Amino acid sequence: MVQFTLPKNSKIRTGKTWPKPEGAKKTRKFQIYRWNPDDGENPRVDTYFVDMETCGPMVLDALIKIKNEIDPTLTFRRSCREGICGSCAMNIDGINTLACIYGLDEISSAEVKIYPLPHMPVVKDLIPDLTHFYAQHASIMPWLETKTNRPAKEWKQSIEDRKKLDGLYECVMCASCSTACPSYWWNGDRYLGPAALLHAYRWIIDSRDEATGQRLDQLEDPFKLYRCHTIMNCTKTCPKGLNPAKAIAEIKKMMVERAV
Ligand code: SF4
Ligand code: FES
Repeated sequence: MVQFTLPKNSKIRTGKTWPKPEGAKKTRKFQIYRWNPDDGENPRVDTYFVDMETCGPMVLDALIKIKNEIDPTLTFRRSCREGICGSCAMNIDGINTLACIYGLDEISSAEVKIYPLPHMPVVKDLIPDLTHFYAQHASIMPWLETKTNRPAKEWKQSIEDRKKLDGLYECVMCASCSTACPSYWWNGDRYLGPAALLHAYRWIIDSRDEATGQRLDQLEDPFKLYRCHTIMNCTKTCPKGLNPAKAIAEIKKMMVERAV
């Protein structure tokens, strides 16, 4: 859990408190991080009250309601609203997760605190800049690399080999895991982080791939792979229930096995 408590000397200001919706009988308080690169001001935390009797069950429902009915300037990413596109990842109540599949009833505290994913540059409000994160993903060659001639119809795979990809292919690249990892916070420029490494492992163990040696060679580096210290925040926070820490451990094991 990544808890946000603002220190006394924090540059994050207390922002505007918006009035409660008229006539609402059951409201919930939302405290939301705001930062606009164009106004020259420090970040702030705005307070909103949402009528829960007319709000959907998920955190994303509340954000959309705030944007539609209270403050159209509130900025966040979302697309599929069903946990597939990965775009609505943010820090909710201290947890990196997907706003569209995180239920408001899962939050035990009366007020809901929402921040962007931690330790990332912010584009605006709840939107982190994922440029570097995506570049790291691209660096692990996230595609099938083959040397033999392309088959007439398709690359075949046994049922057993296909099963090895379960728990890996479901990753939606939301960045919740990498941005929950202290090693990634400190060395994110050179450590690939749990998301990219989970994808690296997904291609390393794909029975159809023919670049395993090259993939392992590229990861044989004191920072890219070995800055993982098995802190496990990645696995704890993954909103898709995946286990990036195990994938990283499997790569490390392969490194040892090929060295003996
Ligand atoms: S492993 Fe989980 S937390 Fe990490 S990017 Fe994939 S879906 Fe998101
Ligand atoms: S909107 Fe697509 S994962 Fe949340």
